Amino acid sequence: SDAELDARIKAAKATLGDRAVILGHFYQRDEVIQYADFVGDSFQLANAALTKPDAEAIIFCGVHFMAETADILSTAEQAVILPNLAAGCSMADMADEDSVEECWEQLEEIFGTEMDEHGRVPIIPVTYMNSSAALKAFCGRNGGIVCTSSNAKVVLEWAFERGQRVLFFPDQHLGRNTAKALGVPLEQMPMWNPRKELGGNDEHVLLDSRVILWHGFCSVHKRFNVGQIEKARQDFPGVNVIVHPECPMEVVDAADSAGSTDFIKKAIAAATEPTTFAIGTEINMVNRLAAEYPQHTIFCLDPVICPCSTMYRIHPGYLAWVLEELVEGRVVNRITVDESVQDNAKIALERMLAAKP
Ligand code: 13P
Ligand code: SF4
Repeated sequence: SDAELDARIKAAKATLGDRAVILGHFYQRDEVIQYADFVGDSFQLANAALTKPDAEAIIFCGVHFMAETADILSTAEQAVILPNLAAGCSMADMADEDSVEECWEQLEEIFGTEMDEHGRVPIIPVTYMNSSAALKAFCGRNGGIVCTSSNAKVVLEWAFERGQRVLFFPDQHLGRNTAKALGVPLEQMPMWNPRKELGGNDEHVLLDSRVILWHGFCSVHKRFNVGQIEKARQDFPGVNVIVHPECPMEVVDAADSAGSTDFIKKAIAAATEPTTFAIGTEINMVNRLAAEYPQHTIFCLDPVICPCSTMYRIHPGYLAWVLEELVEGRVVNRITVDESVQDNAKIALERMLAAKP
């Protein structure tokens, strides 16, 4: 029962004390979040992993790519545990290493390796945090960098200083929304399409590009649409619409603002007058904000419940199990990034951590 699970988790946590730290992403359900020592967006959680070197184990209540990142940034002795190994991310799965390597080879053939008059290389790879460690390593090896939704602008600026153009993967929407906010015209953001017979990219379009977008997307954020925003504005005049930048461009354009999960939380926390907020992001987070800020009216733009199904795979039962195993001295569900990948992935992550505004 829930009460039994609660007692088991609390007992194991008490026994472990500082030996284990539990990190929880904003999209986790309340039944899990209540046990987290630290709750945050993906950037804050990466930092949290970096700043807890004394904990033997980091229990990551989030998805696989986040646990991989925590393993790369934590010390070699620390074990990063993902309570349910089936908690992946469908967007991260949309860019596999082989396809990106193949794309890169073709682009190198087209662009060559010569720098322009500003000393910029032809192309810089930028990967969204929501990607495998192998792709972060690919960026590390090829002069590239990682970004999250909270620093995508700063990271793209970093890349434009060093490169004539960017290959951005896996999320087309974050790439497009961020580049657009930086003034890049849509016609200079082609989507990568290797197959000529299926209307593949013209070479001159690639040569004129500033950002080449990968085709990935988030199935949760793809559900938001402009009609929902119009309806919210009709039903609640004066409503403040905030969406995550993984939403399609038209949705971001129609909203009042867009930003990472932490941005959304801070925007609500900063409102001094009772306000109506319509939010375009995952439902567990929206419902928690609504409960935390009862003085405001806060609802999700999508009337159909839209949880991230993989985030939801972290159930308190798994948390109880991994904690109790730790108490017994056993590490289960450990996420270990291969040593051959660690170093290069860390280079790309460290470039991101250093690229603060
Ligand atoms: P942030 O927490 O960085 O806003 O990202 C949201 C997300 O989709 C995590 O998968
Ligand atoms: Fe992946 Fe979307 Fe879930 Fe984030 S919300 S973990 S991008 S599927």
